[in-house]
Amino acid sequence: MSKEYIFVKQSLNLNGIANLSGAKNAVLPIMAALILTNGKSELENVPESADVIQMINLLQDLGAKVLFDSEKKILNVDTSTINSFELKPEVMNKMRASILVMGSLLARFGQVKAALPGGCSIGKRPVDFHLQSFKKMRVEIQETGHFLIASLNFDLANKLDHKIVLEYPSVGATENVAMLAAGLPDSQTIIVNAALEPEVLDFLDVLRKMGAQVDILPPATIRIRGIKNLKPLKHKVIPDRLEAGSILLAAAITGGQVELPDARADHMDLFLEKLKEMGHEIIIGENDIGISFKAVQNPRAVSFKTGPYPGFPTDLQAPMMAVQCLAEGESLIEETVFENRFLHVKELQKMGADLQVIGSKVSVTGVKEFIGSNVLASDIRACAALALAGLAAKGSTEIRGVFHWRRGYDKLEDKLALLGGKIKITS
Ligand code: UD1
Repeated sequence: MSKEYIFVKQSLNLNGIANLSGAKNAVLPIMAALILTNGKSELENVPESADVIQMINLLQDLGAKVLFDSEKKILNVDTSTINSFELKPEVMNKMRASILVMGSLLARFGQVKAALPGGCSIGKRPVDFHLQSFKKMRVEIQETGHFLIASLNFDLANKLDHKIVLEYPSVGATENVAMLAAGLPDSQTIIVNAALEPEVLDFLDVLRKMGAQVDILPPATIRIRGIKNLKPLKHKVIPDRLEAGSILLAAAITGGQVELPDARADHMDLFLEKLKEMGHEIIIGENDIGISFKAVQNPRAVSFKTGPYPGFPTDLQAPMMAVQCLAEGESLIEETVFENRFLHVKELQKMGADLQVIGSKVSVTGVKEFIGSNVLASDIRACAALALAGLAAKGSTEIRGVFHWRRGYDKLEDKLALLGGKIKITS
């Protein structure tokens, strides 16, 4: 294991202004979609997270020319040189989102050879919805060990209209199917029970800019009419609502006050309601852009249940749990998206939290304080939860699993430090 760890010291009253990075979960499928085009595209507001770097490696591996200006957050990708449809296991294993290139490679080459993806250790995280949907779209898939070989019968797939009914509104499966659909000219695809997270909408916007016809029909259906030559494009990625949520929670847990001028409040409605229910003060800017937050001194504990958008985001469950641990009273947290997303519970308990896991729920009884400890992060958002707990905890906290932090965030430690947080990555 890496010697690096996040070192956090108690830092009360975080205060100031924070600028958000672009959403990692939007830029990853957008980068995958560039494979559909033939030429030079430019993406703005691209976060420098380890997952983005992995996706850059993946695109380069396929033959794309990529230039990332990490200062300006601008990513230039020339896809005209892509000449391979084989995804190496070392790339696939590091990042679950690498499965997302399957749809665009199938649309471009009619073939893909890939290893099964890796990523965070939250639950089983199968890719069966992706594969079943592709099969319905006339993709033949052979699975041998850890490898997938997929091929598309273009003539057949192009002549037909496709109706994909997802059993669950999976973010990744929706995006993957949409990518293949966008690259099938003369064919219409309908995705019923589609995911409509803000990141998915940003990605669909990109497909539209490429020239595909994309409509959203109530209650949760996406209709896509593909075209032959999807165009390269320029696009500015939406701000990261999960980073915004983590910074607001950092202010909440330390009794502070922060402003997020570029935050999209309309992407975070239920989460912001829950913060208000705790007693915190929230002012939202014009057109739902910008959030001012002031923590209440004795926050009330609130219960919540995660769910697909516009439900409470599963990616803010762990950080929100850390905050409930120090609130007054009791709360019940239910996780409905991933079956194994409570690995942070044991670590928060080490810091003094009073938590009890009951199946897919955790009952939280507020305690007076956290005690700084040595803890281990098991996924990106667990790492954020432990960092927040560390900011509030007496003494200092050392968090192992920095790899997860870097996968999910673009130097969030620096943003928290600018607000007065004593937090840094060290070894
Ligand atoms: C995306 C996000 C992740 C977020 C999650 C849920 C990216 C890069 N990652 O992940 O941060 O936590 O959405 O909002 O955007 N499932 C299946 N079979 C499948 C696919 C999914 O059973 O083929 C299940 C999963 O195990 C999980 C649920 O569906 O229980 C939701 O997963 P999904 O929405 O697909 O998450 P990801 O796209 O992997």
